[in-house]
Amino acid sequence: MSFFSLEGKVAIVTGGSSGIGEAIVNRFHEAGATVVVADRKAPVDSSFEFIETDVSEESQIAALVDAVVAKHGQLDIMVNNAGIQPLGVSFKDLTPALLEKTLSVNVHGVAFGIKHAARVMQSGGRILNTASFVGTLGIPAGTAYATSKAAVAHLTKCGALELASEGVTVNAVAPGTIETPAVLEIEDNPEIPFAESRTPLGRLGTPEEIAAAFHFLASDDASYVTGAIIPVDGGIAAGWERYDLTLPSEINAAGEWQDPAT
Ligand SMILES: NC(=O)c1ccc[n+]([C@@H]2O[C@H](COP(=O)([O-])OP(=O)(O)OC[C@H]3O[C@@H](n4cnc5c(N)ncnc54)[C@H](O)[C@@H]3O)[C@@H](O)[C@H]2O)c1
Repeated sequence: MSFFSLEGKVAIVTGGSSGIGEAIVNRFHEAGATVVVADRKAPVDSSFEFIETDVSEESQIAALVDAVVAKHGQLDIMVNNAGIQPLGVSFKDLTPALLEKTLSVNVHGVAFGIKHAARVMQSGGRILNTASFVGTLGIPAGTAYATSKAAVAHLTKCGALELASEGVTVNAVAPGTIETPAVLEIEDNPEIPFAESRTPLGRLGTPEEIAAAFHFLASDDASYVTGAIIPVDGGIAAGWERYDLTLPSEINAAGEWQDPAT
């Protein structure tokens, strides 16, 4: 028996042409799945089946799912990963157009990905979403993005509840700051040194480290996991790494708490 095998499974990975999505595609393929990449842009240097899809359009997600089922006869794993990451936009610069664009890709893309995957999936189906640590923690100058990722976490929980009776699980992975083109291609990106110093494990994560969690969640071994948002973030969402308080004066030499004299 091979643990976490995806042999015989058919998977769609949105945003599969780059970064985290690309790593998920490679990992699922190595685990034996038939993988279809759905993205606005074609993967560079890849032999994987590609269906050009804009996930902000429900009709394109519906057509994607129908095309995969028509060709492969089933859909077992749907990874709603495509996203845009507009960071550095403070409230004074926020426009309806930016908010609508962010929500249409990051939220509609996941909501309608869940809807259409659920329409065709059999019991045992796996729906997986890419959330983010900033969906839990607030961040300055990232309102549109962080809000969209909070919505992804909630879509995951609502989807899990609604689809449980059909035997379909819905889970999310919430990455920390990851070495992908979206992060690395920003010149002198201040997020990198900040994330390195703020993350308890002291470094950015790799796309492969995120794909490993997706692999587990996609497998039959995750049969009792649903509605979970799993942090894979070097510990960043666990809390403050540095909190340099000294031992309070109420603690005596024996390590006991002594109430201050009243
Ligand atoms: N990199 C990080 O630090 C990080 C952290 C937390 C969460 N995430 C999330 O991980 C996911 C992947 O991000 P990444 O860092 O790999 O980014 P990336 O830019 O390397 O890849 C994103 C992919 O999504 C595709 N895409 C964008 N808009 C699309 C649309 N409308 N329809 C279809 N495809 C579209 C892009 O073409 C690209 O191939 C995103 O949801 C992102 O928010 C990333």
